[in-house]
Amino acid sequence: MIFTVAIDGPAAAGKGTIGRAVAERFGFAHLDTGVLYRAVGARGGDPVLAARSLTPEDLARHDLRTLEAGQAASRVAAIGAVREALTAFQRDFARREGGAVLDGRDIGTVICPKAEVKLFVTAAPEVRAERRWREVGGDLAQVLAEVRERDARDMARAEAPLRPAEDAILLDTSEMSVEAAVAAALALVEARLNRAT
Ligand code: C5P
Repeated sequence: MIFTVAIDGPAAAGKGTIGRAVAERFGFAHLDTGVLYRAVGARGGDPVLAARSLTPEDLARHDLRTLEAGQAASRVAAIGAVREALTAFQRDFARREGGAVLDGRDIGTVICPKAEVKLFVTAAPEVRAERRWREVGGDLAQVLAEVRERDARDMARAEAPLRPAEDAILLDTSEMSVEAAVAAALALVEARLNRAT
């Protein structure tokens, strides 16, 4: 069975948690596509070359979750040739046999416009910053500034800007518990799966 769940949205909206839960529940493979851009940014040097030669070791680096890695990712992600180099891998992953969940910024718009389920997961910047701050610590005001800066860059870029696909279902998790957001996503996927089979 080919079945793709595309989960897009801004930083720290809960895409990863929801993506993992959907993958686990339905036995789908899961790809956090942000890791690809984080790994390219973390390599340093020419980002296009890095994107063309990413290795499993690059993706397993332990410093990919830092705020700096997020900022570096969002800078290299604005380069068209970097995105292009990462496209085939993501598309193949999306259409693999057995079902796939991909979370990112452009999955429903560019990578897999035919995805069976498209979710756009969002939350107020203050809420997202606080969630990220609980993970990474440091200064909350600085985390909020970085979240806003990254959102602005991701939305304003010419190449695959962050925006919901026209047929995406919006899930605002500002006032939702993790459990409620996950339950809502699971129900949507389940309903679509029932229609597909
Ligand atoms: O999701 P995450 O915060 O790990 O993504 C890091 C950065 O990678 C984002 O701010 C965005 O600029 C870029 N990204 C992207 N397209 C994706 C996934 C991530 O441009 N599909």
